Formats: sequence, C-alpha cells, structure tokens
Amino acid sequence: MVPWVRIVDFAAHVGAEVEVKGWLYSRRSSGKLQFLLLRDGSGLVQAVVSARDVGPELFELCGRLTQESSVIVRGLVRADPRAPGGYELTLTGLVPVQISEEYPITPKEHGSSFLLDHRHLWLRSRRPQAILRVRHHLIRACRDYFDERGYLCVDSPILTPNACEGTTTLFETEYFGQKAYLSQSGQLYQEPAAMAFGRTYCFGPTFRAERSKTRRHLTEFWMIEPEIAYYTLSDVMDLMEDFVCAIVARVLESCRPELELLERDLKPLEQVQKPFPRLHYDQAVERLAASAEPMTWGEDFGGGHETLLTQQFDRPLFVHHFPSQVKAFYMQPDPERPECALGADLLAPEGYGEIIGGGQRIHDLELLQRRIQEHQLPEQAFRWYLDLRRYGSVPHGGFGMGIERALTWICGIHHLRETIPFPRMIYRLYP
Ligand code: 4AD
Ligand code: MG
Repeated sequence: MVPWVRIVDFAAHVGAEVEVKGWLYSRRSSGKLQFLLLRDGSGLVQAVVSARDVGPELFELCGRLTQESSVIVRGLVRADPRAPGGYELTLTGLVPVQISEEYPITPKEHGSSFLLDHRHLWLRSRRPQAILRVRHHLIRACRDYFDERGYLCVDSPILTPNACEGTTTLFETEYFGQKAYLSQSGQLYQEPAAMAFGRTYCFGPTFRAERSKTRRHLTEFWMIEPEIAYYTLSDVMDLMEDFVCAIVARVLESCRPELELLERDLKPLEQVQKPFPRLHYDQAVERLAASAEPMTWGEDFGGGHETLLTQQFDRPLFVHHFPSQVKAFYMQPDPERPECALGADLLAPEGYGEIIGGGQRIHDLELLQRRIQEHQLPEQAFRWYLDLRRYGSVPHGGFGMGIERALTWICGIHHLRETIPFPRMIYRLYP
C-alpha cells in the first residue's frame, strides 16, 4: 500500500512512492513536462509530470487542473537540494477530488482590504502561513515558559460582571436580564488564583471596544497573563525581562524558515538580551521634551511617543512609575510618591511600542475601596475582588502580554491584523 505522507515528513521517504493529499498551489508547463506545485498544509512540493511516464490521458488531466483544485497525488520522492524544501516528487498518479472554481487570490498583487475580505482563503498563502506558524510557536513558548517554572494555568472567565481596564472600551451584552461584559483582561481572576496557587497564568481571548483605527489595535486579541503572590514591581519587571528573552530565543530557534520568508532582519531579535534599559516615567518625559512629540507630565503615551522612545534603544525598553491617573484602578501607588503607580510597560524596539503592561496590585482593602469609588466602578460587582484584601492579603503582581502585539514585532510586520487568524477591528467582523 502506498502510504499517505505529509510533505514535511518527506525526508524519511526518499526513493519511495507516497501519496500526498492536498491542493494545487500553482502550475507551469514546458512542452512534455508539467510542474505542479502542491501544498498539503505542512509544506509545498513540486511534482514533475512527464507525458512519457504518465500517458496522454493523465497528462491532459493535469493540464486542466485549476489553482486550488483538491487532488490526491502519488509519486516518487526524490531528494533535490535545489528544490524548495529539498525534495521533489516524480508523479505516478493523480485523482482530482474537486476542480476548483476560479480562485480569487492569484499570484498577482492584491490590496489589503481584498485580502482581508478573503481571509478564509488567504490563510492558504505563504505569508499568512508563515505568520500563523510563528504565532503557534510563540504561544507554545509562552505556555512552556510558565509550565516549566511551576505556574498553574487557571482559565479566567470571558463573561464578567465587572470592568478591568476602564469602562470606555467595554463590550456589553445582555445576560439573562442582567448586564455582562466581555473580559478586557483575565487579570482580576488571576489574583484569586494566585492567592490559591501562588503563581498562575491564563491565556485567552480578551476584548476591547477600541474606537481607534490604528495598526496596534484589535477589538479581540489574545493575552498571556501571569500573576504571582508576594511579587513586587521589581520582581514583575525581572520576570517580564526573562520571559521576553526566553520566548524570542525560542522563536529564533524554531521559526528560521518562516522569519526568512517574512524577510525579518534577525539582528534586532538576537539583541534581545538582559538587561533591558529601564526608564522612570519622569525620565521618559524628559527624553521626549526635545523630540518632535513632547508631552507634559501626567499624560499617557500615544503611539508616537512609544515609537520615538523605542527608536533610541537597541532592545526592549521598560517605562515604569506611570502617573496613577492614567492607569487602572488596581495599581499600587508608590509609597514615596503616591501620584506614581508601581506599574511598568515593556516597549518593543524598532518603533513597535507597548507589548506588555503590568505591575503591582493594591493589596490594602481601604485604598482599593477608595479607588473603586474614584473610578466610579460598582462596588457590588467587586465584592469578591475586595474579599482577597480581607483574607490573607499580600503584595502581588503580574503582567499581560498581547500575543498579536508581540508577534507583530517578532515578525517585523507593519499591521497587527495579520497576526491573528480572523482579525476583529472596528470596521471588520467578516469573515
Ligand atoms: O496594558 P493592558 O491594558 O494591561 C492589562 O490588561 C493588564 N490587566 C494585564 C495584566 O497585568 N495582567 O494590556 C496588556 C497588553 C498590552 O500591553 C498589549 O500588548 C495588549 O495587551 N493590548 C492589545 N493588543 C491588541 N489590541 C488592543 N486593543 C490591545 N489592548 C491591549
Ligand atoms: Mg497598557
């Protein structure tokens, strides 16, 4: 019996006849030879069809195959160092499964909105394949990092009665006669988890009704969020640094071909080594004073500020001690300067900007109650959260990294919409 072999596994089948189940990526011919570029999801391989070997009927059938027709192909695997992937197939048989209608995505250039409208098909092309493979490896690296260090994965809920990151970007939904929101962050539920298990993480979809149409904002994105009991701001920053070094190294190790296809300059990624520079918010404001986009103390960064700052360093950059007034209600104030929060953002180099936000959480009951009031949040919905400050409260902290932001930087691409299989943005819910 001829075995069904995935293209990625050809190395173990050189000289043997195999079956490939896939699709026709493209075809060209030169008289008595046709070259079918086949894809099976694991890779691409060129099948050579010779009229002399396969006979006129099959040769003619191959000539009629349209782009993306599904086919089951038989052939002999040959090692060929010049071939993309290193192997070629000498075709011995082919059965069409479906002859594709005229495929909308052709080898010519298409505009990005056309491609996004056809995202369900675009996923078959080389560039999205490379990006989504890196995404897979990045997610694995993130999970492995925490799994190998004794963190427990505790999933946070998505439907919640309370806001985490401010009320202006909440997606509201009706929940059996009561209001519910799609989670903006799994953090609040990692805090009880960390009080139960010491160190935990979650990885899941998060939602923000972002009205901004930028290359850094999605309305649905995925976040990896560790939370650790007894951690202070400086512990959290050390963790962010070690984590980012580890995951970038893992991607460099496992995704060379993909990064090459994306023409990613690897040097900036190889420079992701400890220690990362650390700027107090005061220093960041000073540095920006002389730039094209100065800012006054107390403001939050805009994308432009982040770009300007990160261009001054060759590796990721911390900015810490942001003004409390621009940060979330749960941020622990600096005891020496309560107008500053014990929080830190990590900004990716090369102009990419914030990929991680995190810090130390308020562990004092009265202060937290006051903050909830100041932010006009409903105390009722936060009863459980306040309980954590009643029963064995300890300093604790954690962070959240947006997978798509990190991936945009690691892949060196312009817009984060390409880093998620089906992007959701203010003007995009289809497909
Ligand atoms: O800085 P943020 O808002 O922090 C939190 O949500 C904390 N509760 C996380 C924590 O401490 N556990 O968001 C964290 C990260 C950002 O640094 C960014 O990478 C990503 O989430 N992010 C977005 N990514 C894509 N589109 C958006 N609209 C995003 N908003 C935040
Ligand atoms: Mg942030």
